[in-house]
Amino acid sequence: MCGIVGYVGHRDATPILLEGLHRLEYRGYDSAGIAVVNRGKLRVTKAAVRVAELRSLVGDGHPANIGLAHTRWATHGEPTERNAHPHVDPDGRVAVVHNGIIENADQLRAKLTAEGATFASDTDTEVLAHLVAARVSAGAASLEDAVRAALWEVEGAYGIVVLDVRNPGELVVARNGSPIVLGIGDSEMFVASDLAALVRHTQQVVYLDDGELATLRADGYRTSTLQARRTDKTPTVVELTDSDYALDGFSDYMRKEIAEQPEAVRRALLGRLDERFSTARLDGLRMDPHELRSVQRVKFLGCGSAYYAGQIGADLVEQLARIPADAESASEFRYRNPVVDGDTLYVAVSQSGETADTLAAVQELRRKGGRVIGVVNAVGSAIARECGSGVFLHAGPEVSVASTKAVTNMSTCFALLALLLGRVRDLSVADGRRIVAGLDSLPDRIEEAIAAEDHIAEIARRFAGAGSMFFVGRVRGWPVAREGAQKLKEISYVHAEAYQAGELKHGPIALIDAQMPSVVIVPDDELLAKNIGTIEQIRARGGPVLAVTNATLPAGLADAEIRVPHVTEELDPILFGIPLQLLAYHLAVALGRDIDKPRNLAKSVTVE
Ligand code: G6P
Repeated sequence: MCGIVGYVGHRDATPILLEGLHRLEYRGYDSAGIAVVNRGKLRVTKAAVRVAELRSLVGDGHPANIGLAHTRWATHGEPTERNAHPHVDPDGRVAVVHNGIIENADQLRAKLTAEGATFASDTDTEVLAHLVAARVSAGAASLEDAVRAALWEVEGAYGIVVLDVRNPGELVVARNGSPIVLGIGDSEMFVASDLAALVRHTQQVVYLDDGELATLRADGYRTSTLQARRTDKTPTVVELTDSDYALDGFSDYMRKEIAEQPEAVRRALLGRLDERFSTARLDGLRMDPHELRSVQRVKFLGCGSAYYAGQIGADLVEQLARIPADAESASEFRYRNPVVDGDTLYVAVSQSGETADTLAAVQELRRKGGRVIGVVNAVGSAIARECGSGVFLHAGPEVSVASTKAVTNMSTCFALLALLLGRVRDLSVADGRRIVAGLDSLPDRIEEAIAAEDHIAEIARRFAGAGSMFFVGRVRGWPVAREGAQKLKEISYVHAEAYQAGELKHGPIALIDAQMPSVVIVPDDELLAKNIGTIEQIRARGGPVLAVTNATLPAGLADAEIRVPHVTEELDPILFGIPLQLLAYHLAVALGRDIDKPRNLAKSVTVE
């Protein structure tokens, strides 16, 4: 999704802004641009190019102490130079960068056109530049007042940064539904849509809330609401530094983050395993045992990989706590007028904490009085703050669009939650102890799973010619199969479909032939014989089978086999995810894909 960077201070703005954009590249974009104020003039450079090419277009640039920059992921209008941000009013006075969507842009544009305005782009953002410029020209007392007045006319979601060339000492920023973080420097201020662009300069940040504006000057900032009421913000010190975003010798972030998983899971477990009572400690939940016991249902809500991880969570809760649980896609939730009941614990799951659909589901739940916790990676994100309580993933920053370590930590945290819910109910001490020991050994087992990489890469190359693949699993293997198919689709663009093993014979088996390989998830559990039967069914129709298993399968049953380590039956789905990440990764590498910049995808989808 789009990225925003802004700077005001004593240094040259251009290199700071370009470096900031580079840090945001992972979010996905199709054009980029920058505007700085130099000798009283607005200098805008923008094009449908990567940040590296923008850098060459800017060249030595124009010395400036203030500016804003943007990477755009097209929503309104094609990804072209004219639609790239920053957008400027016709007099070249006001420049705006914007994340989000102005929903009444067409009406506003028609109104402005009727008043004689002409537009240089197809974007909703340009409308904002016109509105602010009109207020500034009409003599608004300050740029902040002009922006505030303009925003009163606007419906929709935005994170914006605005500058006025005649007032080159300040930036005005505002947030409504799209993240904006201020960075406090030494006689300089930064702003960005994502911490990644800030942490090389400062660890002191301020998260704007929805409906808030801020004016930034080199010597500080002040915040207020859309209603012009001053707000008092306490800066947060973030633990992340620039080195958290370094590639550390890996060729891409996805591979780096796959390798980080043992460490990431160790962090997720740190201080959360209670060996004395064979349970979990999750203080962030802020639920006492009485409240934990009152939970009658658990519903996990998330999008994409977070949704599939939620399904693993639901299985864990049912197995360990015997509480009915399910997972639902957050993008559907609010539109079906959901029945929200007070005895259900709703769990909003998100790596970024900014996914618009998941955030909207949380807001719908809160509006209806539902009890919702967040399981989120990004501290300070909208979902984390909206929920107010929950479990942080502690996976560290995840840059790769295809989620790996965050997903693994999601399932790990769900296991902790399920253990806790189980142990205030009927899960025995012995079973609790078994799960605690299993979780404790999980990082080592993940390391073993990753160690099979060469073998997995070789298999990936064997299957790289397939135009389409099935991922098949039953019960515990089913969410694993869904996430495996998702990963393959995302980065290799090979069509992949997940099916419940039992559903195959009800239709999809018609597609099985020598050109349609199936990846079958075969845990060593009570359904082993059934899964072996599934493999036989597929092979009887000439379909090649890759078995991903921790069981001992009859020799020659499958065409290829990936062995997965074992912890406990309940926790094994977490481990099964690892080889499927590596399979997708190496298949995409074999096909020459750009791993960290998969086409059409964004890391966090902050619009609908
Ligand atoms: C996007 C990404 C997916 C991700 C989903 C949810 O669609 O492309 O890979 O799983 O968002 O993201 P979240 O940050 O909420 O976990």
